[in-house]
Amino acid sequence: MTKPLEGIKIIDFTHVQAGPACTQLLAWFGADVIKVERPGSGDVTRNQLRDIPDADALYFTMLNSNKKSLTLDTKKPEGKEVLEKLIRESDVLVENFGPGALDRMGFSWERLNELNPKMIVASVKGFSDGHHYDDLKVYENVAQCAGGAASTTGFWDGPPTISAAALGDSNTGMHLAIGILTALIGRDKTGKGQKVAVSMQDSVLNLCRVKLRDQQRLDRVGYLEEYPQYPHGEFSDVVPRGGNAGGGGQPGWVLKCKGWETDPNAYIYFTIQGHAWEPICKALGRPEWIDDPAYKTAEARQPHIFEIFGVIEAWLADKTKFEAVDILRKFDIPCAPVLTMKELANDPSLRASGTIVEVPHKKRGSYLTVGSPIKFSDMKPEVTASPLLGEHTDEVLASLGYSRQDIFNLHEIKAV
Ligand code: COA
Repeated sequence: MTKPLEGIKIIDFTHVQAGPACTQLLAWFGADVIKVERPGSGDVTRNQLRDIPDADALYFTMLNSNKKSLTLDTKKPEGKEVLEKLIRESDVLVENFGPGALDRMGFSWERLNELNPKMIVASVKGFSDGHHYDDLKVYENVAQCAGGAASTTGFWDGPPTISAAALGDSNTGMHLAIGILTALIGRDKTGKGQKVAVSMQDSVLNLCRVKLRDQQRLDRVGYLEEYPQYPHGEFSDVVPRGGNAGGGGQPGWVLKCKGWETDPNAYIYFTIQGHAWEPICKALGRPEWIDDPAYKTAEARQPHIFEIFGVIEAWLADKTKFEAVDILRKFDIPCAPVLTMKELANDPSLRASGTIVEVPHKKRGSYLTVGSPIKFSDMKPEVTASPLLGEHTDEVLASLGYSRQDIFNLHEIKAV
């Protein structure tokens, strides 16, 4: 099957998570992604949190599938020469080094554009160019704090809280992938490459859009009626942490199910969507609430929403999270069990759809990873193993026109 990005050559100068998540996605869709790594060590995640001695860590294998690995010391003249050749025939270069690292290596945007005016140069940084923090190195949790996620996540009586979801890393990589694809379409029209830059702060903030909405509502009216602080608690002048409250017009909460005393994940998320009020009352065996003025509208329910959640929890007490959802789904109530990583790893639907895939690996045996969350009618992205360090060095050098002797010499002088 021909993949849409076949023929697009990408120099993958990325490490850790934000950049690798972007290039992995493009590789799944057919791009030829060549990961350039420092000889001897490579991407730092190859060694981080290893569970099998001498085998690449899962952190690396789960973010670098479908790629090639070229080891190249790009600070040495011989390495720079190889990189220049690669740049001349590539479509995209993606990097997420610390601020200024690529310039220090001698590959500023101007130089890259001179070497290959058609090439798209895509970068992830912690903060955008010109930002007063643009010299900072940034990791996931730093970005969640800088982008507004931490101040609005967690409970009102606890500290700012980090989400387990990689809002700073993988999310930024996804934004970058959209930018790269857009620039590729732009290049088809203009014939020119361009610089695509995404900051982790901006990407987190983009996902916190509704919290900026809430700040402006709070500034205007002084309260936020869908937050648990309303109407009995206090609001300050900043958007508070709302615990597990649902946003918009759908109050919701994480509710206990049978077994919660011993199982920390025996919960469901329950949403009281306005038009589902009647089915909810029926499902709970409380038909009298349907027309009761104290319960009939969202506005009337809000002052005693936790009393309502308490009644729902009493109804859930003899049902497992799966049994509860099986009943509630018949009433068209938006809800889901709180699923653990173990449950997700073994979920037959996720296996069948290719969202959880098992990948054979030369050194590890097989490992589980998350496959493409994007599904196409004409393509099923196949996930292949991440490369061993330098696995494709000779192949890539040969494709650049180096002879066997040249390749031998390059290895000898440790440029690769
Ligand atoms: N050959 C020779 N040198 C190489 C090389 C290669 N193949 N690949 C990288 N290097 C060098 C770089 O030139 C740079 O050297 P310099 O600092 O002397 O100029 C160095 O390795 C990499 O530096 P840096 O990227 O700053 O690594 P770090 O481990 O100190 O910092 C981050 C890691 C992630 C904090 C930093 O890269 C960063 O802030 N990146 C931008 C935001 C980001 O993506 N964050 C992480 C998201 S998961």
